[in-house]
Amino acid sequence: MNVKRIGIVGSGIMGSGISEVCAKAGYEVVLRSRTQEKAAATLAAIEKSLAKQVERGKLEEAEREKALAAIKAVSNIKELSDCDIVIESVIEDLDTKRELFAHLDDVCRDDAIIATNTSTLPVIEMASVVRNPERVLGIHFFNPAPVMGLVEVVAALTTSEEAVETARMFAESCGKEPVIVKDQAGFIVNALLFPYLNNAIKLFENGVASMEDIDTAMKAGCGFPMGPLALLDLVGLDTSLSILEALYDEFRDPNYAPAPTLRRLVSAGKLGRKSGSGFFDYQG
Ligand code: CAA
Repeated sequence: MNVKRIGIVGSGIMGSGISEVCAKAGYEVVLRSRTQEKAAATLAAIEKSLAKQVERGKLEEAEREKALAAIKAVSNIKELSDCDIVIESVIEDLDTKRELFAHLDDVCRDDAIIATNTSTLPVIEMASVVRNPERVLGIHFFNPAPVMGLVEVVAALTTSEEAVETARMFAESCGKEPVIVKDQAGFIVNALLFPYLNNAIKLFENGVASMEDIDTAMKAGCGFPMGPLALLDLVGLDTSLSILEALYDEFRDPNYAPAPTLRRLVSAGKLGRKSGSGFFDYQG
């Protein structure tokens, strides 16, 4: 398939980051949010991110202008009708995603690939509401998408080899390193990462060390770029809770049972960086 136009559905941190990555890679991008205001706000955030890269000397002004001009922010889902690949990055809720996939099935061209950026949910559950499920797969970017080099290409039981190959080539064309993985909760990274993050919360709950010292220990002791609690804040505590719940649902392994503090913080509206506070504060 000659891939030219990418549709992104959802304008959270991931939708915004993936749109930026695709536009910089030379694709036309249709960024769809539920409202035109949200779509415009996401475009403004991308504009700010690109401007920062120009300021830091990481991007030429001409490249910034070209990338921005390549993104069309829309609210009408029908605008995705001529996209070659559509990647959804909406809330990690299976019912919401299944409803969206049924809509995308009506709207998208028959030969378009419909992908999910889900972190953990079963791709087959989304593929099964589409008439030709061989074109459905996972294309999983990491946060922050413009920086992290990995894309997990997730092949469901029904995904065709052609779709996997197209997704692999697409990820490479975005400057990412793709890995191919089966449709099992957590794929590779989250299956390994989240027991670690969850156990970091439990260490804090058990009073073994302060939040600051837990993070310092893993940065200074293991060379990780961020400590586990700061990383949870970056991913989003609501997203982290959904990931752990999906993992626990699939494996019933106590390592995946969400630490109570995580649930409490989410109930309190403390969702991490995006809400201004989580384990740490980000106001001001
Ligand atoms: N968009 C674009 N560029 C960004 C960015 C963003 N959101 N955030 C940081 N950057 C860029 C900066 O501009 C900077 O670029 P240059 O070096 O070219 O100037 C570079 O990244 C480093 O940024 P900073 O100097 O501001 O900060 P840092 O050195 O502390 O790095 C970080 C920040 C890249 C986030 C780093 O701490 C890191 O790699 N953390 C780990 C992140 C991680 O593990 N992500 C995976 C999460 S799991 C996941 O995503 C899976 C899932 O399904 C939930």
